[in-house]
Amino acid sequence: MSLFGPLQQQPADALLALIGQYRADPRPHKIDLGVGIYRDETGNTPVLRALKAAEERLWQGQTSKSYLGPEGNTAFTAHMQRLVFGTMDFAGRLAGVQTPGGTGALRLAAELIAAASPGARVWVGAPTWPNHPPILNAAGLAVETYESFDKASQSLRFDEMMAALGRARAGDVALLHGCCHNPTGADLSDAQWREVAELLASRGVIPLLDLAYQGMGRGLDQDALGVRTVLARCPEALVAYSCDKNFGVYRERVGALFTLAGSRADADRVHSNLLSLARANWSMPPDHGAAAIALLLDDAELTAAWREELEEMRSRLVAVRQALTAHGGPLRAVAEQHGMFSLLPLSPEVVTRLRTDHAVYMAGSGRINIAGLTEKTVPVFTAALAACC
Ligand code: LMR
Repeated sequence: MSLFGPLQQQPADALLALIGQYRADPRPHKIDLGVGIYRDETGNTPVLRALKAAEERLWQGQTSKSYLGPEGNTAFTAHMQRLVFGTMDFAGRLAGVQTPGGTGALRLAAELIAAASPGARVWVGAPTWPNHPPILNAAGLAVETYESFDKASQSLRFDEMMAALGRARAGDVALLHGCCHNPTGADLSDAQWREVAELLASRGVIPLLDLAYQGMGRGLDQDALGVRTVLARCPEALVAYSCDKNFGVYRERVGALFTLAGSRADADRVHSNLLSLARANWSMPPDHGAAAIALLLDDAELTAAWREELEEMRSRLVAVRQALTAHGGPLRAVAEQHGMFSLLPLSPEVVTRLRTDHAVYMAGSGRINIAGLTEKTVPVFTAALAACC
């Protein structure tokens, strides 16, 4: 009997498959609005200057590549804690570990939840990042979905979200996007975050916050406001963090997972569980990206330079959003949304026609990566859209 015989052929990840399709398209005017990577006005995804300087210093100064441990680089995690939570003091109830990207953080979070409470259900708004449900399912968790966005009116379905979270049992988990919602760009307002925090706290529902775009929406502190509001109110929580976009370190796989526990003693036990789960999964996370970021954030000049570059990226996204909104129609709400993505009210047929007839590549859902557009290509894209809608 063959071990591998029973395996079913798996479809390629639709979003990642777009990368290959776009590359293979010989049309010179093609536009890539697919996978979520930042591009500058010339279409490049640069290594940030501040990061490059930090990497150079790291390369010069590094004297050993011996093992760290399953917790990764603790200086990196301490910096991330300050970036995410500012001056919040959790009196020893917060634990953090470095992870291989935000995906590693989510997987570790899911495994920790499954180990602590195997019957917990995770409530996820639809649409969400397509990789969320598979990550949760892979850890054995049940996923409950609810509609959280109306594509036609381009608005958040906040009442439905509150109603769904109101149905969650104590001990269930609510997965929330910290900022720059992927795929809709439709974020909760500050007042809505307060309502959500209140509801979760009063019902004993545990927040799992996914923060992958800090600084790309409204600014570094403003983008952390939702996370801070929820953690100020809920006694237990998890925060999965990705540095891919805001430090431009996509392929280095740099992330962190933070857990807030009810007491210092609980936090110590949670930390020990994070370490043993990490050890069983990847033993220890890759070092280079996190070490370079720790070095960058240790240095005031490099930190200021990085903040400036992040602000450049953010302002470019805002400018493209404003240019798109001016065209109205399916683009009318884009300037009110935040971060790298908007989910346009386009049918799958229109998405296909845009690709085949106009060489415009976007996810089948109608999600566009705002950073894939430039001053020059906005009119090309809007003309293609007008021709297809
Ligand atoms: C995206 O949503 O395009 C990015 O987060 C990349 C990914 O891994 O899906």
